[in-house]
Amino acid sequence: MTEGQGAPRQASPLWAGRLAEKPGREAFAFQASIAVDRRLAQDDIAGSRAHVAMLGARGIVPAETAEALDAELARISGELESGALEIDPRAEDIHSFVEGVLTARLGDRGRAVHAGRSRNDQVALDTRLYLRRVLPELRAELARTVSVLLDRAEEHAGSVMPGYTHLQRAQPVSLGHWLCAWACALSRDRERLGDALGRLDECPLGSGALAGSTLPLDREAVAKALGFRRPSLNSMDSVADRDFALEIAAACAIIQTHLSRFCEDIVIWSSEEWGFVDLGEAWSTGSSIMPQKKNPDFAELIRGKAGRSVGNLVTLLKGLPYAYDKDLQEDKEALFDSLDTAQSCLRIFRGMAAAARFDTGRMEAACAGGFLEATDAAEYLVKKGMPFRRAHETVAVIVRDCIAAGQRGIAQRSLEELRAYSPLFGEDLYPALSPRQAVRARDLPGGPDSGELKRQIGVLREKLGDGPGASAHGV
Ligand code: ARG
Repeated sequence: MTEGQGAPRQASPLWAGRLAEKPGREAFAFQASIAVDRRLAQDDIAGSRAHVAMLGARGIVPAETAEALDAELARISGELESGALEIDPRAEDIHSFVEGVLTARLGDRGRAVHAGRSRNDQVALDTRLYLRRVLPELRAELARTVSVLLDRAEEHAGSVMPGYTHLQRAQPVSLGHWLCAWACALSRDRERLGDALGRLDECPLGSGALAGSTLPLDREAVAKALGFRRPSLNSMDSVADRDFALEIAAACAIIQTHLSRFCEDIVIWSSEEWGFVDLGEAWSTGSSIMPQKKNPDFAELIRGKAGRSVGNLVTLLKGLPYAYDKDLQEDKEALFDSLDTAQSCLRIFRGMAAAARFDTGRMEAACAGGFLEATDAAEYLVKKGMPFRRAHETVAVIVRDCIAAGQRGIAQRSLEELRAYSPLFGEDLYPALSPRQAVRARDLPGGPDSGELKRQIGVLREKLGDGPGASAHGV
């Protein structure tokens, strides 16, 4: 290999000394990970800088070597940033690439960098550093999305609509209540990522291949220099385990599942039959053949992407012998895809949700005719002293009789008729049956009443300011 400035020619693999024969080009490329882990370049360099500073401080390499390595690493970082140095796609992985550049430029001093470490602890570190960088961004996307949903919920605190179970009209709620429910789910997702950030806050460097090192490494100093709370506890666990990746992939799969459900509602609501929402032209696409079409492609695509995020999670799940196995290399492609997918979906979902025009008149009209007031009638009887099961049966018979008579609501029956079912019914029943009153009367914590809803919105807004993990890692 030529030494001196510039990028190296394709270096031989770091492990070339052991094998008389090398894998062929296709086989080598098959096991390489540079195409995926290239995004860890700056994290790899940050880890290496902390490592060489420690090697110098501990006298494992001469101070002059440590300084030269650090200066060169800083230079490589800047050159990658500016584009002056390009990552060689023929390198095996990002760790090999950086070490290769150091060796090409610094000769034996470059060869000193890997003392006391392995790519196994390096990659565990790099992935954590990367996650520590990007998770706050994803949490910020969630915060912004929750905030848009809460604005819209506030706007629609008084917009009455049917609530559904089994996609059948159930009880009146408000659109604001519905939107706030979505905000609750995404707010938990944000907390989940905060929890995961807290748990990955341990530095694996110094774990070596699996059993640490005989060199007098200073793991505390490296952990501190890299801003970790502490070094990881067990070297085997540190290189073998990927639960930090798993739980983040799981958190992303949950985000996508949430978005998928919201988008399913949006797709249904935007249909002519429902007509609850108009996504606007900027958030729709047309058809190549049917001139009249305005399709909710964005919502459908977000729904569709849940599958790949769940797939990514499954990719990471398998029983492997301890400690490191090459299978673990597969973690990054899946994890990065889940993070990218969550980020882009949240951004698109947010834009779509902000622009959606809800047809509140149509929503309120849909509260009539489906006997959404039946539970209210039953609870009316309970308040008058009837056991709930009897009240349920009584109202069920009324509903059946109304349907048989072609009536679309309990209020279409006169008080006299209703008294035939129960003498407990009185004039005050009728106001209790209106959808607006049904919403207003549900003012328990969690309910749709607009005052109560405003409290829920306030709680979620407050959380956006200081959710778990917020203080340690921003956002
Ligand atoms: N590219 C590898 C990964 O992503 C780095 C660790 C390789 N270690 C090894 N012993 N082959 O997991």
